[in-house]
Amino acid sequence: MAIIGKDIDQAKELLKHGELVAIPTETVYGLAGNALDGNAVAKIFSVKERPFFDPLIIHVPDLKSVDKWVTSIPAKAEKLADAFWPGPLTLLLPRKSIIPDIVTAGLETVGIRCPKSRLTQQLLQSLDFPLAAPSANPFGYISPTTPDHVQNQLGMKISYILDGGECAVGIESTIVGFENDQVVVHRLGGLSIERLESAIGKVEINVNESSNPLAPGQLKSHYAPRKKLLTGALDQLLEQHGPHVGVLAFCELKKSVPRHLQRVLAPTGDLHHAAQNLFGMLRELDQLDVPLILAETVPEIDLGRAINDRLRRASAE
Ligand code: TXA
Ligand code: MG
Repeated sequence: MAIIGKDIDQAKELLKHGELVAIPTETVYGLAGNALDGNAVAKIFSVKERPFFDPLIIHVPDLKSVDKWVTSIPAKAEKLADAFWPGPLTLLLPRKSIIPDIVTAGLETVGIRCPKSRLTQQLLQSLDFPLAAPSANPFGYISPTTPDHVQNQLGMKISYILDGGECAVGIESTIVGFENDQVVVHRLGGLSIERLESAIGKVEINVNESSNPLAPGQLKSHYAPRKKLLTGALDQLLEQHGPHVGVLAFCELKKSVPRHLQRVLAPTGDLHHAAQNLFGMLRELDQLDVPLILAETVPEIDLGRAINDRLRRASAE
C-alpha cells in the first residue's frame, strides 16, 4: 500500500526520480509525475489504465511560470488566470515543444492549471518542472476527493499520497480554450459559468456529449460508478425502480427508501456542498448491496450545471 503523509521532501524526491505521487488539489486528487519526463508520464497512463489519446493537464505554481511552457498567452487567458488562479480553472494554451507529445496526445495546446492546495503549492514552488496530473482514479471511474479514495484504488501501484485532507471543491476544474478571441468552455467544472462570465463577459459552451477523441475529457461515459446509475427527477425514478435502490438525493431524504440506502448531497440546498459531497457519496452508494443507484438532478445553475453534467455522464452506457 502507499504511504499517506505530508512530507513534501519525500514527494519531491520521488518526482525528481521519475516516480509518481498522488497530490491534493482543491478539486480532486491528482496522479502526478514530471510533465517533462516522457517515461514518468507514460507511467501515469499505465497506472490509470488510461488511453493515450486522452491528454493530461499540467500543474504550475503561478501565472508567471506559464511562459516557459507555452508560446503565447491570450489577453483573456491572462485576465482569467489573474481572477481565478490558484483555483479550479484549466486554460488550454499553445504549447512549446518542451512539453512532450505524450502529455497533450499530440494536440498543439496544453491544459494548464494552478491548483489551490497549500502542500501542492509548496511542492510546485520547489520543483523546476510542472506536474502532469489527471485525477487519481482508474480511467472512467469516479474521481477521488480524499487520500483514502486514492489508496483504495491505486495504493498498490504508487508509493506516496500527499495528504491534503478532503478536497474543498470536490469536482474537477473548468476547462477553457481561446478561439478567435472567444472564450470556449470545454468542460464544466468547479468554476461556474456565472463566475467566469462575471470576469470576462459571455463565453461559449462546447461541452461534448459524444465519444470524440479530440476532446476526450468529454467522453460520454465518465465519472461512473460500477453500478448502473440513472439520473433525473427522483420521485419519478423511484416509482419505476424503487425502493431497493441506492439514492443520491439533492437536499431531502425520501420516505419510501430505507435510510441506509440514501445519501443527501446538501441538506441546505447549497450547491457548493453538493459538489463537495458528490464523488464521495457516489463511492459509498457504489459499495451498497443494491443493483441500481438513482441520482436526483440538481438545479441547473452555478455548480449545479457541472454536477448534472457528471451525473449524466455517470449514467451513460
Ligand atoms: O481538476 C482537475 O482538472 C483535476 C486535478 C487533478 O487537477 N485533473 C483532471 O485531469 O481532472 P483529468 O485528466 O482527469 O481530466 C482532464 C481532462 C481530460 O479528460 C482531457 O481530455 C482534457 O482535460 N484535456 C487535457 N488537455 C487538453 C487539451 N489540450 N485539449 C482538450 N482537452 C484537454
Ligand atoms: Mg479524470
